[in-house]
Amino acid sequence: MDGAGREARATISPAAAACVARHVPGRSLERDFYVDESLFAADVARIHHRHWLFVGYSFEVANPGDYLTYSVAGAEIVVVRGQDGAIRAFHNVCRHRGSKVCLSEHGHGSVLACPYHKWTYRLDGSLMFDTKKEFGVDRSELGLRPVKLVDAGGLLFFSLAENPPDFGDAAATIARKMKPHAIHRAKIAHEIDYVVKANWKVVFQNNRECYHCTPNHKEYNTAAYDVMRDNAVVDPTLQPAMDAVIEQANARFAELGLDTGDASSNMTGRNWRCHRTPVMEGFLTQSMDGKLVSSLMGDIKEPDSGTLRTTVFPNFWQHTNCDFAAAARLTPIGPGETHVRGYWLVDARAVEGKDYTLERLLPIWDITNKQDWKICADQQAGVSSPGYVPGPYSTLRERNVAHFDDWYIGELRG
Ligand code: FES
Ligand SMILES: [Fe+2]
Repeated sequence: MDGAGREARATISPAAAACVARHVPGRSLERDFYVDESLFAADVARIHHRHWLFVGYSFEVANPGDYLTYSVAGAEIVVVRGQDGAIRAFHNVCRHRGSKVCLSEHGHGSVLACPYHKWTYRLDGSLMFDTKKEFGVDRSELGLRPVKLVDAGGLLFFSLAENPPDFGDAAATIARKMKPHAIHRAKIAHEIDYVVKANWKVVFQNNRECYHCTPNHKEYNTAAYDVMRDNAVVDPTLQPAMDAVIEQANARFAELGLDTGDASSNMTGRNWRCHRTPVMEGFLTQSMDGKLVSSLMGDIKEPDSGTLRTTVFPNFWQHTNCDFAAAARLTPIGPGETHVRGYWLVDARAVEGKDYTLERLLPIWDITNKQDWKICADQQAGVSSPGYVPGPYSTLRERNVAHFDDWYIGELRG
């Protein structure tokens, strides 16, 4: 079957389709979207096995032969840098009898060898030995199956679709805006794997609003301007002060030669954004005390460069500051469970103990993450209850959640 045929078969169950048809825009999703296995299967078919997913960073496969693997809802992927320097992605599935080929999450090899019967592939995916005589199939037909991969300024995204949704504008904008931070020359200072007891949409919806910040994020609120922005949204008398903050921040970004434009997903119909915003006045970065927590990243020359907020539905966001970046990669495990990998990036030249310590680097986002996962788990428990009925979104402070839902429902409608 050709690719178009395979994708056309990614239909959703009648129960899931009925649920989608019943959705009322502007209200939270009904219970089945968060608990039902057939809806979860629909999410995988229409979203995770079709859209562009963040898999990792180009510096994680810095040298030829370096690879990283990723599993999402049953799909096994390997990303490898070839001898020619190009980064490619493949289905991490042997063309003999289907064993996983690369077993560890990170590795290095001059070839990729399947552990089962040792079929061996070059780094470009081609099979290395002649199969015609013994297997009756030419080896040119038995290379690792390629997966589409895009390097957006050091951020690697893949799509399992034969004909993926357009990602050109997103990748180009992210690469351009991320350039001063030189993510391809960064390193992971620390990773934390969180298991969130909530559906992936609960986790993403939570990320799309800061209505919950005042009661839940004491630490984050001291560093971010979000609460001020939301207050101005509901109290127009505060808007001039907010406008002044934005104007001042944009002037500062322009002075530093950084972008000031807005590629926000706000009500644009896009499923991504890459938007530089200010941090709290008096703060140089998003840290507990406003002071730098590492040396400056990439080509950033001065601190106080705001934070570049990058979001790509359905599995990624990153806050990129002058000295560090904090990111999250979401991987759905089941209807009520999501794996989130938290990343903390610093410049590759930064030395632990001298330029940064984890004690200062981690807290603001680790604390905020854990607060978020707790409220997500509490919401998951509530929406799983038979007593749950969808409630109304704020037309002022939850527009981005409604926008996410509109995108999601549109994708399930196909
Ligand atoms: S399944 Fe890979 S070599 Fe047999
Ligand atoms: Fe939050």
